[in-house]
Formats: sequence, C-alpha cells, structure tokens
Amino acid sequence: MQYMAPWVPAFTNAVTRQLESNQLPFITCSFATVDSNGSPRVRTCIYRGFVFDDKKTNVITLTTDIRMEKYEHLTSNPKFETCFWFPTTNEQFRISGNAKILTTSNTETFSQELGEYPLVSPTALKQYSSSLDLSNHENHHNSIHDLKPSAQEWEAELKNKWESLSRNLKSSFRKPDPGSVLTPEKQKLLDSISRGVDGSNEIDGTKNFGLVLLLPENVDYVNLNGHQSRYKHDRVDEDQWDETEICP
Ligand SMILES: Cc1cc2nc3c(=O)[nH]c(=O)nc-3n(C[C@H](O)[C@H](O)[C@H](O)COP(=O)(O)O)c2cc1C
Repeated sequence: MQYMAPWVPAFTNAVTRQLESNQLPFITCSFATVDSNGSPRVRTCIYRGFVFDDKKTNVITLTTDIRMEKYEHLTSNPKFETCFWFPTTNEQFRISGNAKILTTSNTETFSQELGEYPLVSPTALKQYSSSLDLSNHENHHNSIHDLKPSAQEWEAELKNKWESLSRNLKSSFRKPDPGSVLTPEKQKLLDSISRGVDGSNEIDGTKNFGLVLLLPENVDYVNLNGHQSRYKHDRVDEDQWDETEICP
C-alpha cells in the first residue's frame, strides 16, 4: 500500500506557507548527485510536486533535460541528496535516497527500474479507495500492493508534468546541448528559439525531457522556528518510517 511518511505533512505545509508568502511563485531546492569520480555535484532545481500529484507516494519530482550532467550521474549512480530551505517557516528538509529518471524511452520498463520501492498504480489505488470492502481488507491490501504503475500511467504522468511547464521552459528542451561550447551558430539558434522562429515544434523538446523521481530513504528535518527541533526519519520497510527526535 501507500502510506504517507511522517515527514510529508510538515513538508507540504511548508511548501504551501512558502508559496502563500508570495516571495517567489515556485519552490527551489539544492539537488546533489555523485559524478563518475565520486565527487559531489550540486545545483538548484525547481520542485515539481509529488508523483501522480499524490503526496501519499512520498515521492517528490524534479525535471531535467536528459542532456544535462545529472542524468548521466544518476544513470550510473542513483544516490542523491536534496536540501529544501523554507524561509517563511524556518524549516529545512534534507532528503536522501535513490533517484530514477522517467523519459519517453523507458515508460515500459520504469516500474521494474524502481525495484521494490512501494509505488502503486494510481488507477488501482483509486478503485481500491472507492470500493473499500472492510470485510476483505487484508486480501485487497495484499493484491493492490503488487499492482505497479503501467506504461500508460507513466506516459500520462510524463505528459502531465510536461504540460505543467511554461512555454518558455518547454522551448529550453530544444536548445543546443546544455554545457556545450557556445558557437556563433548555436547563438543564432538560441536567438531564433527565443523569438519562436526556429521552425521547430514544442513537441520536439519532449525527447530531451526527464522527470526525476526522488525515492526517499532518509529525511533530516530541522525546524528553527521558536523552540528548535530536529527529527531524523528513516525508511525501514516498504512504507514504514522510523522517526527519532535528535538534538538540533
Ligand atoms: C532558480 C533556478 C531553477 C532551476 N531549476 C532547474 C530545474 O528544475 N531543473 C534543472 O535541470 N535545472 C534547473 N536549473 C539549472 C540547474 O541549476 C543547472 O544549471 C542545470 O540543471 C545543469 O546542471 P547539471 O548539468 O549538473 O545537470 C535551475 C537554475 C536556477 C538558478
């Protein structure tokens, strides 16, 4: 099944309060991966909500162009750490685990790539919730656990997250290779893309679009508001989490 981890309500509350403060219309985080030399690499990314727009998954998403370095890092070493700081509520969430990238070319195999992580088909979950038969609860519970998201559900999720991007951001996915040397030809192409006269289509960018799923294992939560507190959350089994208060 899918049960909300104990750190998620505090996290989503901090997101809501931060957005309500109108400081910025989006939430950013620092997202760290490990390169092929074993060195940490960190960059700013925008928080894109929970996978399937369901916070009970406990799985936060980010987006990336798959030509960027983080894609290469994560395909050879899925370890990540991300750090969110919410100035409005004075809270920090440092989340680590394994990250997997969904693209147009791996929707068929993506559920297998996630391994044992307890993500359930959103359609099956909806049906289960609406036809909850308490007398047979245990059987439903066990069978639904095995229903992983289908290729169609992953395709729909990728499309959903792509559609939520601004026109401007969508256009960045058809720009010349990020990180490559800027030449006069590439500058010309960048200019024509920004003026919308490069002759390509918005859909052309989707082949470079990746949805990063953060499968959390450990969350270090610090609340500096009023009396300071700090909690360590560790996933111990399936969707069971241990929560320990530690010295701030
Ligand atoms: C405010 C801000 C938000 C950003 N959001 C993202 C994002 O959501 N996804 C992303 O891939 N890069 C984002 N970037 C760019 C990254 O910080 C980074 O430059 C880019 O991802 C290339 O990193 P990489 O080659 O190490 O993967 C953002 C940068 C800034 C300043």
